[in-house]
Amino acid sequence: MKTFFMIKPDGVDRNLTDEIIMMVEEQGFKIVQKKEMHIDKEMAMLHYEEHRDKPFFNDLVKFITSGPVVAIELEGDDVVTKLRNLMGATNPSEAEEGTIRAIYGTAIEKNVVHGSDSLESAERELNIFFS
Ligand code: RTP
Ligand code: MG
Repeated sequence: MKTFFMIKPDGVDRNLTDEIIMMVEEQGFKIVQKKEMHIDKEMAMLHYEEHRDKPFFNDLVKFITSGPVVAIELEGDDVVTKLRNLMGATNPSEAEEGTIRAIYGTAIEKNVVHGSDSLESAERELNIFFS
């Protein structure tokens, strides 16, 4: 099973990429592809399509295009759910101890990582970033 994982601009800017990748590899997930890149507005709007009508949509697009990200294709058993567990809750202040967002997240808008929330999202997002 595969999923899409991304280190957001706050994580890249704070040089957290290597530490976060180490946490992911410790879970036994395999990195299939990885690239540092800049997301343009069009791609950001496509990636966050499901949030188009939310009040925070414009800020979300602004933030994800504000600097380089690291896009990763991850493979492993039950990787969609297990990665979401490793990431922790969306709001770092609610994230379980030891999760990536609990350790590194500083605000709901700056929660360091993204992971697909379902198999369907994973396929859609991997297509956006790796094809
Ligand atoms: P992600 O997509 O980034 O992996 O995060 P998620 O599934 O845990 O959360 P989701 O509901 O998909 O929201 C996407 C991102 O939007 C930001 N957000 N801001 N200001 C707000 O109330 C608010 N709510 C969500 C978060 O940065 C979240 O990761
Ligand atoms: Mg999401």
